Amino acid sequence: MIETAGHKLLLDPFLDDSPTAPVRAADVSAEFILVSHGHFDHVSDVKKIAERTGAKLIANYEICEWFQQQGVKHVDPMNIGGATKQPFGRVKLTVAHHSSTMPDGAAGGDPGGFLLELPGARIYFACDTALFSDMKLIGAGGLDLAVLPIGDRYTMGPDDAIIAIDLLQPKRVAPAHYNTWPPIAQDVHAWAHRVRIETHAIPIVVEPGGKFSLDG
Ligand code: NI
Repeated sequence: MIETAGHKLLLDPFLDDSPTAPVRAADVSAEFILVSHGHFDHVSDVKKIAERTGAKLIANYEICEWFQQQGVKHVDPMNIGGATKQPFGRVKLTVAHHSSTMPDGAAGGDPGGFLLELPGARIYFACDTALFSDMKLIGAGGLDLAVLPIGDRYTMGPDDAIIAIDLLQPKRVAPAHYNTWPPIAQDVHAWAHRVRIETHAIPIVVEPGGKFSLDG
């Protein structure tokens, strides 16, 4: 969940079936739901939250189409490299090296990440991806925060995430996509220690249900 200038955005909500999420899909509010790719651990709560809240889905064309067929009314499709202006700022769909199959086996288009230009903050969500050298381009405009997967196995792991920080040069970095299940277990505090000594970024580790602010 991202709160900015009175707007509420959810990114890849996965709550009801997550062993670590402290809140349920029925308890969250949102005006916008951003979805990076079609895997169940990123989309399984999208329909119920969108139907209850009337939130607008921002995702690639194929994912928007799939949810529209399921009854989600407000969709705003895009594709890799494109950006749209939204009431909360600008959203760009960036490259990700991953896969994107919907829960029913339908094609989910190309997987992506999100570059958000919000009032006073540029944030990059790599979402599920391998390391790639074009991260250097994504970081070129300056980043207040990068959110990077560190779980390994299905995405880049701790070592590649350190290299990603070097390419992106964000002011702060937050780890994601780890410890939900044993196959992606990581020692996040050991990784945060490495970030402090091996990079110029400040690591921000948020426990499930926790929050932090980029203001001040
Ligand atoms: Ni995935």
